Amino acid sequence: MPQNRSAQKRKSSSPYLFILLVLILLTAILIVGTRAMNTWKVYETQAAIQPDPTPTVTPISVTPNPFRATDTPVPPTAPPLPSATPSLLGSGSQGDMVKQLQSRLQELGYYTGNIDGDYGPGTKAAVQKFQQLNGLDADGIAGQKTMAVLYSDSALPAPGPVDTLSSAVPLLVNQWNPLPTGFEPADLVKVKDVAGNLMTYERDSIQGVREAAEALTRMIQAAVNEGYKPWKLREAYRTIADQQRIFNNRVTGYMTENSLTRSQAIARTRQSVADPGSSEHHTGLAFDLNVPGEAFGDTAQYLWLKNNCWDYGFIMRYTDDKEEITGITGEEWHVRYVGIQHSKKIQELGFCLEEYVEWLNRQ
Ligand code: DAL
Ligand code: ZN
Repeated sequence: MPQNRSAQKRKSSSPYLFILLVLILLTAILIVGTRAMNTWKVYETQAAIQPDPTPTVTPISVTPNPFRATDTPVPPTAPPLPSATPSLLGSGSQGDMVKQLQSRLQELGYYTGNIDGDYGPGTKAAVQKFQQLNGLDADGIAGQKTMAVLYSDSALPAPGPVDTLSSAVPLLVNQWNPLPTGFEPADLVKVKDVAGNLMTYERDSIQGVREAAEALTRMIQAAVNEGYKPWKLREAYRTIADQQRIFNNRVTGYMTENSLTRSQAIARTRQSVADPGSSEHHTGLAFDLNVPGEAFGDTAQYLWLKNNCWDYGFIMRYTDDKEEITGITGEEWHVRYVGIQHSKKIQELGFCLEEYVEWLNRQ
């Protein structure tokens, strides 16, 4: 009987035990679930604060202009900019980058040609002029350094053309009096447009200052009227680059044909070709006359010129007897326009231009 009682007691307590176990299990599930939820919430909050290290959408990249002083972003419509490489644009380059370059050069007064995207001689000359005036190596290549200055606020604009005939004292140009950097004469015209078929021309494009070209026309017309012809115009206005090319060719010639050293060749060249920047031809007031197929000094035309040029505002600029003063050996073909008032006085005094300018400055 006590055995039966104990069995009855075990039977009656088993449902309570079951309920207790179920309660414990539910509590455990609740605790684990709450913790899991909290962890998820923390994760979500952190994820909202911190940037996704691997975004699925690529951000829009804005390329800064590498050639502006300030890193101003390029507007989306701007043409593509050249990347920073040592030689970006040069002769033969084409496209939008060249157009952009031409526009900037035009804005600063260095380029007057078409914005056509072709890096031709005009663009190269404009780049060289910009480089000269901005203290850069004037190689005519728009490289990284040139672009950096060109697109900076410190880029110097081109100086305006100079009225070469406005001064009371004629413009003196020689090795001791070079022209200022960037010098350019005002009022250049094609001599052929003024003188027409009075002469033949080395190139139809030869330019001179209008007043000088008109005086030349009157002079040659007078000679022709007196029977002195034919005449050929070999040279007038020259750019610095033209002069540099002529100078270099002469140096090379002396080195190869006369076996001179480089420094000997340069010294010899300077007796007959002015240093670039020191040539009267840059002024558009100097003209080299010639008779086709003959040594000019032996011609009747030369004698006529020597006797009559003074009456038309011209001087014989380089004569043998003044070589020590001018620094240039005699050139019977080279006449310089100074205006009739000065030319007549220079003839009367028997001076070269250096002596005359000094004399005028003493008055
Ligand atoms: N032949 C003259 C001196 C010049 O080069 O300007
Ligand atoms: Zn000359």
